[in-house]
Amino acid sequence: MKEVKNNTLYIGNVSTKELAAQYGTPLYIYDQALIEQKMDDFKAHFVSSDFETNVVYASKAFLCTAMAKLVKKHGLYMDVVSGGELYVAAQAGFDMRHIVFHGNNKSVQELEMAVRYGAGTIVIDNEAEARELAALSFEQKINVLLRINPGVEAHTHQFIVTAHVDSKFGILKSDTETIRSIIDTIESNEALSFQGFHAHIGSQIFDKNAFRAEIETMGSFIKEMINKTGRSFPALDLGGGFAAVYTKEDAPIPIDEVCALLIDQCSLINEKYDLHLKRLMIEPGRSIVAEAGSTLYTVGFTKITPHKKYVFVDGGMSDNIRPALYQAAYDADLTNRMNDKKTETVCIAGKCCESGDVLIEKTDLPCAVTGDQLIVYTTGAYGYSMASRYNMLCVPAVVFVKNGRSSLVVRRQSFEDLIERDEGDIL
Ligand code: LLP
Repeated sequence: MKEVKNNTLYIGNVSTKELAAQYGTPLYIYDQALIEQKMDDFKAHFVSSDFETNVVYASKAFLCTAMAKLVKKHGLYMDVVSGGELYVAAQAGFDMRHIVFHGNNKSVQELEMAVRYGAGTIVIDNEAEARELAALSFEQKINVLLRINPGVEAHTHQFIVTAHVDSKFGILKSDTETIRSIIDTIESNEALSFQGFHAHIGSQIFDKNAFRAEIETMGSFIKEMINKTGRSFPALDLGGGFAAVYTKEDAPIPIDEVCALLIDQCSLINEKYDLHLKRLMIEPGRSIVAEAGSTLYTVGFTKITPHKKYVFVDGGMSDNIRPALYQAAYDADLTNRMNDKKTETVCIAGKCCESGDVLIEKTDLPCAVTGDQLIVYTTGAYGYSMASRYNMLCVPAVVFVKNGRSSLVVRRQSFEDLIERDEGDIL
């Protein structure tokens, strides 16, 4: 929770001034209670008497051992897409039966690792991968899903049916022969159990019709596969994509509503197509962590150019690549001057050697001076997880705050860390 006391922003009842003094800036701050609330909301509302349901946190949005522990504590499953994410989950003591392993190009080593760790579910992407997986030997059963490209694509406010047939993810729903062959390959290994299909249609989705189209498309596709193979497919994984609030223009479908919509639509297709679906999964990432995270910076210099006033901060595209990569919009405040009038329109830029290193192209602020603290909101998803060491800027620390207390969950990268893996001499 955020509040203003003595002109200063508090998150989780901790003063941002104190956080900056204690941990330095730039700093990723997560409101732990808000992450927990979002997880509990999904868990409470993605339930149905018709289906077994699983909420699978997409860890690519934000992962460190503390986050994996939080996911475990709240009883969610977790989606990983690499040996690295799998490793972090394992190190945090995450229950491997609750892992859903994704990825369009998993290496054989990664597949072997997933098997060795005892991952509960593997989502196959293509035929060659099915063959590699079926060739391994197993000590315990693994559930397998196949990622389907349903030809429904959502781009924030728009969605398009019959779009993007050339996606690198999954198998096109019309390629039923390949799909049938993948199922046979998987089933040729007794330890593998082919459970059904997966689809993910995009990220930051606001439009209910996009989810309706996804589910209807998957319903008729599953029916076709039942007819073609004479077998049943009890599980359906609908992926993630639920939106978060970045600026006041964003109005995501509330979690209870989107969960009810998904469940209702799945009940509908189950009846309409006589599918016998028994298990539904969703994979929210952004919607669980985005709003809980903010990045706190210190203002350095300011600069006036013919058409702009720049406010420079001590981080930038290295801790948040999203503005440069996706033209993502954000809101900001000066946390030490929360009640001051916003008298200027400025451009907030970072310290990287790149013209595109702009965090917010245009925003209103009080007249910023060196040493002010500036916060950018809603950086909790795909911020830390996509951070780089460009210009050898150190990856910021991550702190969780809750009930007036803070906990350093990832320490700041140090200069020593920057050369930690440098080895050997020149030739
Ligand atoms: N499941 C699958 C199979 C996915 O590919 C993704 C995201 C998710 C779940 C989670 O989606 P979410 O609920 O977070 O929207 N870097 C981009 C987002 C890339 C999303 C990739 N896949 C960004 O910063 O906007």
